[in-house]
Amino acid sequence: MTNFPWNRRHIISLEDFAPSEYESVLKTALSFQDVLSRRNKKVPTLQGQVVANLFFEPSTRTRSSFELAAKRLSADTLNFSPGSSSLSKGETILDTAKTYLAMGTDLMVIRHKGSGVPATIAQEMDRLGSGVGVLNAGDGQHEHPSQALLDLLTICNALNPKQPTIDDLRGKKIAIVGDILHSRVARSNLWSLTACGAQVHLAAPPTLLPKAFIEAFSQPIRTGSRSVQRQVFVHWQLEPALKDADFVMALRLQKERMSAHLLPSLREYHQRFGITRDRIQKCASTVKIMHPGPTNRGVEITSELMDDPHLSLIGKQVASGVAVRMALLYLMGGSKNGDLSR
Ligand code: NCD
Repeated sequence: MTNFPWNRRHIISLEDFAPSEYESVLKTALSFQDVLSRRNKKVPTLQGQVVANLFFEPSTRTRSSFELAAKRLSADTLNFSPGSSSLSKGETILDTAKTYLAMGTDLMVIRHKGSGVPATIAQEMDRLGSGVGVLNAGDGQHEHPSQALLDLLTICNALNPKQPTIDDLRGKKIAIVGDILHSRVARSNLWSLTACGAQVHLAAPPTLLPKAFIEAFSQPIRTGSRSVQRQVFVHWQLEPALKDADFVMALRLQKERMSAHLLPSLREYHQRFGITRDRIQKCASTVKIMHPGPTNRGVEITSELMDDPHLSLIGKQVASGVAVRMALLYLMGGSKNGDLSR
């Protein structure tokens, strides 16, 4: 396998990812996509290494996807779930992480409902001089880097199936619709898509998309000596976001937000912001629909669109997840051999 430039020990956020790093992830993931299309889908890359999946929050696809990715790379995997662990006996999260370190863990994949937990564990691992790489698998409302990277692979594959590159994204219009304020998926996607030159149009009711939200994304993208403004637009109505869009990414409406009175009802949300066949007529004729899952069928998106194989990339997103996570574990697993400063 060709080696693409990489110098990160941890992947916590995509905020400071450079276009060249997205290209490295994409190219590495494409190689693993080839591996996954073979009869024998396993490679010995991480043989003898231990990958610990520390999921302090429920997850179906992300946890299974990381586990399968690690297994395809021949790593030994440890799976942690809080219900059956010593957390219920009062152990702190850092002590849990140190327990896994003492067992010889090389890479930790961490999901937690608190923003900043993977970063704190990464700092502690560095302080101890452990050499362990920490990968954020979703922290609170902060970030979900591997989801945005699998979305990137899915989009590039759709745009240019023969030879996908991040340059295919330049000037493309991507609408992100739904509970943006609380979404770590939206945040990570905003960093990655804008860094690759796409225009991101956000659409949601004002309670789920305050105008100040995009201020964080006003910092330019730096590539060498060049600096380019990120293209982010806010809409409180769906139609302008959908107009001529190349991709529509719907986000899960977090029902738990309803109790905070941020939305009148799911029915009203669907009437104003639900993705329907009628509404996507305004999009580019080649439009594709995406959703990170889990989905509330008939709320964010109609059931019929979700299941339309010509329009929906949802299944492809899940499949891309394994290749991308293999790429991330592979790139980070190389940390044992190289000088990694980040
Ligand atoms: C997302 C998550 O957990 O952040 N799902 C996922 O990882 N595929 C989105 C969500 O829960 O709505």
